[in-house]
Order: sequence, then structure tokens, then C-alpha cells
Amino acid sequence: MIIAVDGPAASGKGTIAKALARHYGLPHLDTGLLYRAVGLSVARTGGDPDEEKSALAACYFDDTLLDDPDLRTEATGALASRVSVHGAVRAALVQRQRDFANQDGGAVLDGRDIGTVIAPDADAKLFITASARERARRRALEMESRGVAADIESIVAEIEARDARDMGRANAPLVQADGADLLDTSDLAIDAAVQRAIALVDAQL
Ligand code: C5P
Repeated sequence: MIIAVDGPAASGKGTIAKALARHYGLPHLDTGLLYRAVGLSVARTGGDPDEEKSALAACYFDDTLLDDPDLRTEATGALASRVSVHGAVRAALVQRQRDFANQDGGAVLDGRDIGTVIAPDADAKLFITASARERARRRALEMESRGVAADIESIVAEIEARDARDMGRANAPLVQADGADLLDTSDLAIDAAVQRAIALVDAQL
């Protein structure tokens, strides 16, 4: 059983994907971490994230980067969004994601193109969204809980810039996949969003 969860930054897709994995007893892959590792690797090796060759070289990153404390910062998210426009970068990461999806017993994957490119034949597909302002509010709360100062307006601007790049790119743009159910979490608490996601997946199986 393969469950594909896509959506924009800070929509709640990661939390929902993790909860679905627990509920159905499946392994989970946050595919954004792979693009983040490429972004971080290109920055640390002095490469140019906007240059395809340079970004491609960074795809052969050391897996220890997946545990790096800088992996989950918004700066790394922005770098990930820049390297992920390149077709060669996406192609280099496809097999790793498909292998995870096709393991015995199945899997839950979350990202931007799981239901469209990585696993178009997934058994269940969700497209998670929320307003940019609500996503920025959540991101700010999360930063403040880590003791990091957060400015809502600049977070809204960062989120909108990342959405525009992820939706506007030629390769695997962020879009609701055929057959995906839309779940808007703007007005839902985490538990309610998870219950709704489980109900939508159950109805697709
Ligand atoms: O989901 P997360 O914020 O970690 O993703 C970081 C960036 O990686 C996204 O903004 C997007 O540009 C890219 N990404 C992608 N395809 C995926 C997952 C992430 O292009 N499947």
C-alpha cells in the first residue's frame, strides 16, 4: 500500500504523513529532506544552487547530512527549492524515492510530486494545503518554541516565494495530483486534521 501526501511548505503534510504511517503501520519518507540535503551540500561546498551541474554534483551527498541540525531551517528550505527546479537533480533522486515507495508492505511518502511523478499509481493520494498566513503563523510558533525570534511578515513572504517557485517550475511543479483529495488544514487542529486525513485515505482504499 502506497500513500502519497503532497502540499506546500508548512501545510501540515509532514505531521499528517507521519500520523498516517503510524496509523497504517507503514514506513515514512519525508522526501523534502533529500532536496534539503542537496541544497545544504551545494552551499557547504561553495557551489551555485541555481546552476544545474553544480546542484547535480551535490546530489551524491553523504547521508550523514540527513541528520544535520541545519537541515530543517527555512534557509535550507529555500536552497532546496532552488536546487529542486533542475531536471537533473530531480532525476538523480527519483530512484531512491521509488525504491522506498515500492518496498514490501508499502510506504507513506510526503513531498511535492509524490502523487504526480514518484508514485502516480499510489493507492491513496492527499493534497494538503492551508493559507499562507496560517502556515506562517505555525512556522513562527515552531521557531519561537525553539527560542528563535520570528517575524510573521517576513515568514509570509518567504513562504509565498517558495510556493511560487515550487508551483511555477517546469519540472514536476507542485500541483494537486489526479485522484488526490484536497485537505485544507487552515481551520483544523492537528488531531482533527489527522482524523480527516485517515477518513479520506480509508475512503480511497
Ligand atoms: O517539504 P520541504 O519544505 O522540506 O521541501 C523543501 C523543498 O524541496 C521544497 O520547497 C521543494 O522545492 C523541494 N521538494 C521537491 N519535491 C519534493 C519534496 C521537496 O521539489 N518531493
